[in-house]
Amino acid sequence: MIDLLKLVEQVKDIVREASKFTRTDSFSITEKEGESWNIVTSADVAVQDFLQQKLQELVPGSGFEGEEKHMMDIDKEICWIVDPIDGTTNFARGMQQSGISVGMRQGKDLVLGVVYNPDHDDLFWATKGNGAFHNGKRVHVSKMDFEHSVICTALSLYRKNLAEICSNVLNETYQQCADFRRFGVASLEMCYLAVGRVDLYFEIRLYPWDFAASAVIIREAGGCISTVKWGNGKAELSDDLILDVPSPILIANSRANLERLGSIVTKHMAGLTEADYK
Ligand code: IPD
Ligand code: CA
Ligand code: CA
Repeated sequence: MIDLLKLVEQVKDIVREASKFTRTDSFSITEKEGESWNIVTSADVAVQDFLQQKLQELVPGSGFEGEEKHMMDIDKEICWIVDPIDGTTNFARGMQQSGISVGMRQGKDLVLGVVYNPDHDDLFWATKGNGAFHNGKRVHVSKMDFEHSVICTALSLYRKNLAEICSNVLNETYQQCADFRRFGVASLEMCYLAVGRVDLYFEIRLYPWDFAASAVIIREAGGCISTVKWGNGKAELSDDLILDVPSPILIANSRANLERLGSIVTKHMAGLTEADYK
């Protein structure tokens, strides 16, 4: 049996150590798939290589999925799900808002999450059943009602054909809540929700490495996280997060707020085809 409390301490140390690869001004930038908005730096690759080696050493036989090089070990009982640098554009532009995100799946469950912002020495973590923490302090989501809520969202960075749905969702939500933010780093935005700085979150198309770690942190902080399943002109919320392909992610500080955000999102997503989403 895995001792999650012991393991998370070891993962925190490894993540902090991995951040040494981000403390440099000399990194190269490459465009992925010829898209000017889709970049990877040499630091992303160095962090991922380091994490893969250390994490698989830590739990022998474990699988590893990371954004860079797209390894997918979905058949392993224990699997690390890693975004070496979440918010690569922020990192490359010196904005000091990026996260190293390490989640762990055991069977079908996400059970451990660590997210670290090296520029602020800001560390968030949780293990299933043991609460969520920020720099050593137990954290909880806010109690904000929908009208006073701040939402974090984005316009589908890597599938710009979905931006119109996202802006329609944002516009409708914005009319009913207090304000919105776009920090450019999904994993940290979710952690900000876990500590009560923001209250709602929506992205239409995230990869498992964008949310695996933060999902554990959100749930342990008392928040609700769902995806959307859709087809045949219908769309509905589901708490079964999808861990093998990109999927929509909605988060809120309460079930009532999640459902209210969900009713806006599902209305705008109902007509979406699989071909448009791919
Ligand atoms: C992206 C960032 C961004 C979010 C995108 C993600 P990356 O991750 O988290 O905030 O809007 O959906 O893909 O590519 O910088 O690791
Ligand atoms: Ca990411
Ligand atoms: Ca990344």
